Amino acid sequence: MNPEWSSKAEAEPGGSAIADQNTGVWLDRIGAIEGTDTKMGLRAHLDKALEQGANLFTVVVYDLPNRDCKAVASNGELLISEGDMVRYKNEFINPIAEIFADPKYQSIRIAAVIEIDSLPNLVTNLDIPKCAEANGPGGYREGITYALNKFSPIKNVYSYIDAAHSGWLGWDSNFDPAITLIANVIKGTDAEWDSVAGFVTNTANYSPLVETYLPNPDKNVGGGPIRSADFYEWNPNFDEKGYAIEFRKRMIAKGAPTTIGMLIDTGRNGWGGPERPTQVSSSSDKNTYVDESRIDRRYHRGNWCNQPSGIGYKPWADPYNGVDAFVWVKPPSESDGMSEPDFQPDPDDPAKQYDPMCDPDKMSNAAAYPTGAMDEAPHAGRWYSEGFQYLLQNAYPPVSTPAGPPAE
Ligand code: BGC
Repeated sequence: MNPEWSSKAEAEPGGSAIADQNTGVWLDRIGAIEGTDTKMGLRAHLDKALEQGANLFTVVVYDLPNRDCKAVASNGELLISEGDMVRYKNEFINPIAEIFADPKYQSIRIAAVIEIDSLPNLVTNLDIPKCAEANGPGGYREGITYALNKFSPIKNVYSYIDAAHSGWLGWDSNFDPAITLIANVIKGTDAEWDSVAGFVTNTANYSPLVETYLPNPDKNVGGGPIRSADFYEWNPNFDEKGYAIEFRKRMIAKGAPTTIGMLIDTGRNGWGGPERPTQVSSSSDKNTYVDESRIDRRYHRGNWCNQPSGIGYKPWADPYNGVDAFVWVKPPSESDGMSEPDFQPDPDDPAKQYDPMCDPDKMSNAAAYPTGAMDEAPHAGRWYSEGFQYLLQNAYPPVSTPAGPPAE
């Protein structure tokens, strides 16, 4: 349990219902390893884990050069054009690996989530110059290969590679290239498949766990399969349970051992509250049928910033065959990005910017739909009380429900 996140959650009205949950500790800049006067560093977190008698620590490794190459809300401190791969290796990955390898911490299973959004950006966003650059030397592949090579000899580190989410890579035209790209990176490491414990879907995203009322994407309504409705844009993967299981299956077909497992970030994909449908639509119009039946209430599935969703299932091991756990990688209530165009830079992370996807008054960049982002949000990673209240109230299952296996 991250004591810093936990005490902030505890201080929010109603927050004690979730304040005891395991959430990811993000190493999102070189300075985060050491920590500051007001923020615990990596050793402090691991010492606290020992003190708690914890057997698991969830950590996110997130500082690649050209980080967040498509969006700008989480732009990072390192740039390929500045030759910063050298700093990534020497000042970021090496010190993290040294701390992980301290025998003092060998009783703690360290679940390391590696570089969110990075390899998926190389699948779909190569038209963006910063992503094209990240596709080359000194870019994402090199950084991830280096991190895996440093972490894999440490027996209690379990690395999980980011697998984006169903609403991003779910189309076959994205899915297969993503599997090939990610598998090739893993096969290129020293320990090959032994470098990874598996993959994580939905990190910091909002895609629902199960689209309860839409189990069959090929179901015909009004003369076409429901996956051809505007909301799904022909993507046959509607939810994270199906996507995670399919992702694992395709990795195994590429040579991954059957011991690999999936994680699903369920921190903010609950979508409960009054807007949640309680039955399947009876409409004979495909779009109306989908819109009235879907758990995902976003205007568009590409909307990723501060969505008014709800807390999802609490962290839980082995929810389904092949899925290692539900996890809360993105700590609920931490912002995805600044909503105001006339912002002050974040003193800890001056590269973080305003991305219109985080502005409720803007249209989504993917299509002609509003962003749906909640208003008056601070910089990515900063505490966002209004957002927290929304997430609590719209939790599904309700936050009073104890952690346990999923009902679906
Ligand atoms: C931010 C990180 C932050 C993380 C968790 C990301 O969007 O860029 O700085 O640690 O979210 O809230």
